[in-house]
Amino acid sequence: MARVFVLGATGTIGQATVRALRQRGHEVVAFVRPRAGVGGRLQQADTARLLPGATLRFGTPSDPQSLQRDGFQGERFDALVSCLASRTGAPADAWAIDHQAHLHALNAARQAGVQHWVQLSALCVQKPLLGFQQAKLAFERELMASGLRWSIVRPTAFFKSLSGQVERVRQGKPFLLFGDGRLTACKPISDADLADYLAGCLSDPARFDRVLPIGGPGPALTAREQGELLFAALGLPPRFKSVPVGLMDAIVGVLSTLGRVLPGLAPKAELARIGRYYATESMLVWDPVAGRYDAEATPSTGSQTLGAYYAAVAAGVEVLPERGDHAVF
Ligand SMILES: NC(=O)c1ccc[n+]([C@@H]2O[C@H](COP(=O)([O-])OP(=O)(O)OC[C@H]3O[C@@H](n4cnc5c(N)ncnc54)[C@H](OP(=O)(O)O)[C@@H]3O)[C@@H](O)[C@H]2O)c1
Repeated sequence: MARVFVLGATGTIGQATVRALRQRGHEVVAFVRPRAGVGGRLQQADTARLLPGATLRFGTPSDPQSLQRDGFQGERFDALVSCLASRTGAPADAWAIDHQAHLHALNAARQAGVQHWVQLSALCVQKPLLGFQQAKLAFERELMASGLRWSIVRPTAFFKSLSGQVERVRQGKPFLLFGDGRLTACKPISDADLADYLAGCLSDPARFDRVLPIGGPGPALTAREQGELLFAALGLPPRFKSVPVGLMDAIVGVLSTLGRVLPGLAPKAELARIGRYYATESMLVWDPVAGRYDAEATPSTGSQTLGAYYAAVAAGVEVLPERGDHAVF
């Protein structure tokens, strides 16, 4: 059993990771903001209900003084698990949170005696074309050079990011696809399976000092196959509508040009670039020699499938999470 300091505990994967750490018998101290969640809608009591079994400390995780004073409080910890990430993915926010806030935390963690740091990252950083990917990579490099034991977990797509069309399909609208819907694929991973994998990094030597791409169980699924699963879960005949990738290019182009004149539009241009990235890049391990994504080389973990998740959503057993700014993914 380890004493674990958790960052980003109020996020989708952070909440699941606190549960997984507690299930494995670890002591968890979560350092969170007093107003947390999408749009700051969670009050302290709401956060406490979401994270049973964890000791909560409130403060400003991005502020080095608050980290020391309100977070670590001069105590010793064995490990740090971070699921902290910019909620917007906008470059300035990503550099402030995914990079700078983590650097402050790395400093504080060293002083608190932390031996092992488990970092939730993203598989897409293997092909970094976006600002938030560069910010994540810059911190990954600092962590690898820190002298601490590290585990960098780079998952493929989360279920919540593949659920953006549930409501429109339920209303009888077609499932939107880029191109023929076979341009990209991923191995969807559930929150609980990913959380268990993150928590397992603390005890599995095969995950020490490694970059760990990880997907969920089963074969890689194209966007069209994901749509077919959703129609099957809702008991509806499949109906697809193709959107040309060129349309995304046009939107990115227009917003980028306008964003140079009207600064208010610059974040929207970046969100459009993020959308275009996910419309055209698979969330599978990239083989730089063959110049293609490789489903076979993308490891799998866990047992929960996207099809079962869609069925649970259709039956009302599973409630769709608030997707906030990530709705773009
Ligand atoms: N979506 C996908 O399919 C996918 C796939 C692979 C990897 N990933 C990566 O997985 C990571 C986590 O995803 P997620 O969906 O769990 O994220 P999330 O739900 O947006 O949670 C983000 C966490 O970071 C905290 N945070 C954000 N900005 C903060 C700030 N300024 N100060 C303090 N705390 C802040 C949030 O706290 P508050 O509650 O206080 O805001 C929350 O705890 C991201 O790095 C993402 O890139 C995502």
